[in-house]
Amino acid sequence: MSDTTTIGVLGGYGAVGSSVVRRLHQTVTGQLLIAGRDPARAKELARTLGPGTASTEPATVDRNDPASLDRFAARCGLIVNCAGPSYRVLDTVARAALRHDADYVDAAGDDPTLLRLLADGGANEWVAAGRIAVLSAGALPGLSGLLPRHLAAGIQRPVRLDAYLGGVAALTPAAAGDVLLSRGPEHGISGAGWRGDDVRERTLAPRRGLSLPAFPRLVDAFPFLSTEAVRLARAVRLQQVNWYTVFGGDQLPQQLAMSWALESTDTRDLISAATEDVRRHGSWYGQEFHLWEDDIDGPPTRTLSLTTEDSYELSGFMAAATASAILAGEVPPGVHLAADTLDPAKITQALSADPAVKISLAEAMG
Ligand SMILES: NC(=O)c1ccc[n+]([C@@H]2O[C@H](COP(=O)([O-])OP(=O)(O)OC[C@H]3O[C@@H](n4cnc5c(N)ncnc54)[C@H](OP(=O)(O)O)[C@@H]3O)[C@@H](O)[C@H]2O)c1
Repeated sequence: MSDTTTIGVLGGYGAVGSSVVRRLHQTVTGQLLIAGRDPARAKELARTLGPGTASTEPATVDRNDPASLDRFAARCGLIVNCAGPSYRVLDTVARAALRHDADYVDAAGDDPTLLRLLADGGANEWVAAGRIAVLSAGALPGLSGLLPRHLAAGIQRPVRLDAYLGGVAALTPAAAGDVLLSRGPEHGISGAGWRGDDVRERTLAPRRGLSLPAFPRLVDAFPFLSTEAVRLARAVRLQQVNWYTVFGGDQLPQQLAMSWALESTDTRDLISAATEDVRRHGSWYGQEFHLWEDDIDGPPTRTLSLTTEDSYELSGFMAAATASAILAGEVPPGVHLAADTLDPAKITQALSADPAVKISLAEAMG
C-alpha cells in the first residue's frame, strides 16, 4: 500500500475523526474522504485545514445503510473508522472494508468487534485477502496497552504493573454511547487484579484522594481489570497487575452507576454529568504506569506519566499513527489490536514530540 492510497475517515468530523483528518492531511499524499451523514460538517472541517499534503473531499455515508457504506468502501484503500458508538457499529464497517479490498483501522471496536472478526476462523479471511484490520487504535484501549510495553522494554524480569487511566472530559454523543455500553466480560472486571497467571476477582478496593504526577489534582481510582490489561499481563509475563480507572470528577461515575442500575439507554444524563465535571474541574486526562522489576514490593523501577488536555486528540494521534504504520508496510495482513502490533518505542517517540501531549519517564536510582 502506498501513501497515495485513498483514505476514508468515517466519522471524520467528529472529535476523534477530525483529529485523524488533521493529522493525516499533513502526512499522506493521497486523497482523504471526510465521511459522515452531514456533508456540511465535512466541508466545514476541510475549510479549516489550511495547507497540507493530502487532498480532501466530503463523502456522505450512513453506516446503517449497506448500499451507502459499500459505495464508500469501494472508493477507499484504507478506512479509518471513528463513527460510533463503536459497540453498536461493531464489525459492520470492517466487513465492508474487507468486501472492497480495503485495510481497516478502528479508533475503538475493541473486544466486542475483535470477537466477531475472529469468529469461525475469521482472521484467515483477512490473511487470505492480504488485508489488514487494526482495532483499539485509540487512547484506551490502545495507547494504554502500548506504553507499558515501552516501559518494560529492556527490563529482564518485569513483575508488577500498576496503571491509572482517566481524567475529566466532555462526552461526545458517540463516546457517551460507548461508555454506557462498556459493561460485561468483553470489557473487564471491576475489583479484579492479575495475580500469578490468572485473573483474581474481588482483589482490589477503590483508592481515594491519590496524588499522582499524571493528574493535576487528587483523584479517586477504581479497580477495573480490562481485557487489555489481561492481554498485557500475559504478553509481558507479569505476576501482578493493578489496573485503575481514574474519575477526576464525581458526577460522571455517579450517573454511570445510576444509568447502569436502571439499564438506561439514554446518554443525555451521562453527557450532562460529564459537562458538569468539566465545569467544576476543567478538562484533563492522564495515563500513569508504575513497573517493578524482580520484586513486587518497594518503590517502582520505572514510571511513565502522560498528560494531555484532550483525550480525543490522543485517540486521534493513535488512529492516525496506526494508519501511517499500515501505509508504511509495518503491519502484516490479518486482524490485530494496535497495542499488540505497533512498535512501542516508535509510537512513544512520536508521541513525545506531539505538542498535544507531555510524557515523562522516570527510573529508580541504583
Ligand atoms: N479508545 C479511546 O480511547 C477512545 C476515545 C475517544 C473516543 N473513542 C471512540 O471513538 C469513536 C468516535 O468518538 P468521537 O468522540 O469522535 O464521537 P463524535 O464526536 O460523536 O463523532 C462521531 C462521528 O461519527 C459520525 N456518525 C455517527 N453516526 C453515523 C452513521 N450512522 N453513519 C456515518 N457516520 C456516523 C458522526 O457524524 P454524523 O452524526 O453527522 O453522521 C461523527 O462524525 C467512538 O466510538 C468513541 O467511543 C475511543
